[in-house]
Amino acid sequence: ALSGCDGKQETGGDKASVVVGFSQLGAESSWRIANTVSMEEAAKEAGFGLMMENANQKQEKQIDAIRSFIAYRVDVIVFSPIVQTGWDNVLQEAKQAGIPVILMDRTIKTEDDSLYKAYVGANFMEEGRRAGEYLIRKADAIGAEHLRIVEICGTTDSAPMQDRQRGFLEVIGQDKERFEIIDSVDGDFLQSKGEECMRELLQKYGPDGIDVVFSHNDAMTLGALNVLEKTDAAATKDMIIITVDGEKAAVDALKAGRINCVVQCTPHLGPSVMKLVGEIKAGKDIPKVYYPEEGAFSDFDDLSDPAVEGF
Ligand code: AHR
Repeated sequence: ALSGCDGKQETGGDKASVVVGFSQLGAESSWRIANTVSMEEAAKEAGFGLMMENANQKQEKQIDAIRSFIAYRVDVIVFSPIVQTGWDNVLQEAKQAGIPVILMDRTIKTEDDSLYKAYVGANFMEEGRRAGEYLIRKADAIGAEHLRIVEICGTTDSAPMQDRQRGFLEVIGQDKERFEIIDSVDGDFLQSKGEECMRELLQKYGPDGIDVVFSHNDAMTLGALNVLEKTDAAATKDMIIITVDGEKAAVDALKAGRINCVVQCTPHLGPSVMKLVGEIKAGKDIPKVYYPEEGAFSDFDDLSDPAVEGF
């Protein structure tokens, strides 16, 4: 196994010619766990050594991990930034050390795009737009005149939280008469918080006061569903539930009629990341942004189609 940094999970032999330092942000959802597995499997497949550190949702831990990768002089640093800002100093250090950086899954906000080589991950604005487009189609289909929406948001200041919100608003904001966001609450992408948020929203507005739940990930949605299904009120049955990710439990809930729309966000980014690592090492030019192909499943689709499946 690789050695030299304490506390890291290391895979790949001493003979690995390329070593990737990977700072994963946490293990908050099934999405994240599938993403970690994808990175591990892809590194193995490519024959690269992988030094992985899990930051347990702490930006300081990610910064420490990146510094230790610089000290170890890994070939490429890959990280999934928990929030969008606060990375410039450490990325400047990586740049000075001549170590290329790939952002995986989440983007950052910086004035200096030369601080990273590439971004591999979803177009979160597009995901938010897809959620909004579904809602408009649904409202048309049921002849709704006014829908009161609650939004259960992901980690504050993270790229998926901000961009899913912006994309959604961009689409439904065109029709303020029909679509009203009555509340946006922080669920931190966690199932437990999704439950807590839904409980509080029901207390605040009552089951008759909410028509739509737009939740930024499946973990929070599944938490919210646990609460809704224990609530003895007919109105909860008619609530329109829109979620993002596409894990198996959520797609199964869509098929069972408990969720109305699942916007896809793929966690399987490992192969694309490792391909770029190989290209960087071969001195090739690489694209700055790589978005995987994604779509959405909803109650407008034929849900018996085998293509409708979760990860
Ligand atoms: O950054 C991707 C998001 O992070 C996924 O939607 C969510 O499940 C995860 O925690």
